[in-house]
Amino acid sequence: MRARILFGLTLALLFIYGAHSATITVTNNCPSTIWLGDLTSAQQPQLSNTGFELASTSLNVPTPWNGRFWARTRCSIDGSGKFTCATTDCGSSQVSCNGNGAAPPTSLVEITITPSGRQDFYDINLVNGFNLPVSVAPQGGSGSCTAPSCAANVNAACPTELQVKTSYGSVISCKSARIEFNQPQYCCTGGYSTSTTCPPTNYSIFFKNQCPRAYSYAYDDAIRLFSCSGGPNYSITFLSLQ
Ligand SMILES: *[C@@H]1O[C@H](CO)[C@@H](O)[C@H](O)[C@H]1NC(C)=O
Ligand SMILES: *[C@@H]1O[C@H](CO)[C@@H](O)[C@H](O)[C@H]1NC(C)=O
Repeated sequence: MRARILFGLTLALLFIYGAHSATITVTNNCPSTIWLGDLTSAQQPQLSNTGFELASTSLNVPTPWNGRFWARTRCSIDGSGKFTCATTDCGSSQVSCNGNGAAPPTSLVEITITPSGRQDFYDINLVNGFNLPVSVAPQGGSGSCTAPSCAANVNAACPTELQVKTSYGSVISCKSARIEFNQPQYCCTGGYSTSTTCPPTNYSIFFKNQCPRAYSYAYDDAIRLFSCSGGPNYSITFLSLQ
C-alpha cells in the first residue's frame, strides 16, 4: 500500500517536474544532399518528423526516449512518385520513414534519453555497416559526456567483398560481415551467441580500426557506449566523405 502511494507520488512528481524534453539538432556537413531518417523504438510514438531533406534541423524529443538516426544518400523520386535512396533506404517509398528502420549498410546514431537528471546513453553503431561519417555530441550535461565521432571514409577502405557500388563503380557504402555473409561467427548467433563465444573477426577489426569509437560488432567492448547525465541536448553531425 505504502509502496503504491509512493509510486503514485513519484509519478505525479515526474509529471509535474519531469516533463523534460531534449533537443536533438541534426546537421549535414557533407557537400551532397542527404535525407535524415529516424526511428523511435519500443512502442513509443514516432517523432513528428521521421524523414526529411537535411540542412540543419532541431527535433524536440519527449523523454523517456530511445531511438536511432541515419542519413540516406542518393535519393530520388521516380515517375510514379516513389521516393527511394541508394543507401539506407527505409522502404516507405516516401521521404518520411513512418516507423520503418534503415536498410543496411547504415552508420547509425543510437540515443537513450531518460527523464531529467538521470543518465542518458548514446553510441555510433556500425554493426550493420557504414554509409556516411557521423559524430554525436551531448550539449550541456554533466559527467563524462564524451562526443564520439566516426570521421573516416570507410567506403574508400572497404574490402572488395563488402562494397556496395553504383552501376558506374563508385563505392557508396560498406556492409558489415554480418550483413554480407549472414554466418553465426559474424552475427553472434548459434554457438557464438555470447560475448565470450563471439570474439572480434578480421572484418569487425577492420571497422574498429577505421572508427575506434563506434561499435564494430554485436559484442564489441562496452566502452563504445557513452553516457551523460543532467538532461543534455544532442548534436548529431553527418560529415563529408574525405
Ligand atoms: C536544451 O535546449 C533547450 C531548447 O533549445 C534549452 O532551453 C535548454 O536549456 C537546453 N538544455 C541544456 C542542458 O543545455
Ligand atoms: C577475413 O578472413 C577471411 C576468411 O579467413 C578471408 O577470406 C578474408 O580475405 C579476410 N578479409 C580481410 C579483410 O582481412
